[in-house]
Amino acid sequence: NYPDFIHLKEVGPRDGLQNEKVFIDTEDKVKWINMLSDSGIGEIEYSSFVHPKWIPQLKDAREVGRKIKRNKNVFYSALVPNLKGLEHALEAGIDGASVFMSVSETHNKKNINKTVAETYPVLREVIREAKTAGKNVTGYVSTVFDCPYEGKVEPEQVLRVCDQLIADGVDAISLGDTIGTAVPSQVERLLERMLSHFNPEQLILHFHDTRGMAIANILTSLQYGITHFDSSVGGLGGCPYAKGAAGNVATNDVLYLLHGLGIKTGIKEEKMQQAALYIQDKLGKQLPSKTVASQASN
Ligand code: HMG
Ligand code: MG
Repeated sequence: NYPDFIHLKEVGPRDGLQNEKVFIDTEDKVKWINMLSDSGIGEIEYSSFVHPKWIPQLKDAREVGRKIKRNKNVFYSALVPNLKGLEHALEAGIDGASVFMSVSETHNKKNINKTVAETYPVLREVIREAKTAGKNVTGYVSTVFDCPYEGKVEPEQVLRVCDQLIADGVDAISLGDTIGTAVPSQVERLLERMLSHFNPEQLILHFHDTRGMAIANILTSLQYGITHFDSSVGGLGGCPYAKGAAGNVATNDVLYLLHGLGIKTGIKEEKMQQAALYIQDKLGKQLPSKTVASQASN
């Protein structure tokens, strides 16, 4: 018994590119995001308003935001770490802001240079200001299964962070398998705990496919009524501040699964294939998605 319609958020232009060393020219990013906008997808995270020294690939976030062609059927969001980032994002144009933090102290510190306790007031201000500006806010919660530095993370710890973010005003929570270690039994255990506090519509699942488990984990999440997932075209991605993080689950693989199950997404597979081949060519290396590779050889 699966949901009839699944909403995908394309995070390729943010999570996908942030770990890539080859700088993609601003004009090429814009062209690529415009291709993604034409695919029928409902949401695109188009860049990240973090410190350019931390993520050099996305230093052109403001220019990208100003130049992309806005499709009225697409919701454009961006990653925002603090008020300075929000100010830049509002200038560039966003429909929604994504704030982010980790459950585990060490990853949080390495990623955003703060303890978990120091992070809440920073995010609270961003959420308040974004809401005042009429924007939707998603809270990314990282290391919900395992931390690359501290090991296992318990559902209770995840719940504590999520409760706080919801109390501080986020509209939805994206649960991040940052280093792609989870197997379906871990997903079940976490979702059972999460769904005792939240509706399935408040939750987004964000799987990295480091060990090839993401599709199995998505199938498990569907059985819990989850209707929102993050994915990246071609399977591009990874967090440079999480040792061992590889790409997000490939949008193309998720589409193959969902459409094969008879679940609607509103997204055209051919358009996503073209967008994957476009960025693969610009990066000069094969992307991880098996669906992309097999369709390209047909
Ligand atoms: P910090 O050095 O502690 O910042 O970095 P600060 O507040 O002390 O400020 C230092 C300087 O940076 C100041 O400039 C600020 O103005 C400037 P100065 O006065 O020295 O000239 N500054 C900024 N400049 C531009 N844009 C900004 C900004 N903020 C401060 N937004 C900070 C803290 C959060 C900024 C930094 O650690 C950072 O940028 N981290 C980003 C790391 C990152 O992007 N990681 C990847 C994304 S998270 C992820 O991938 C996981 C996810 O996909 C989910 C999952 O998979 O689990 C979301
Ligand atoms: Mg991620």
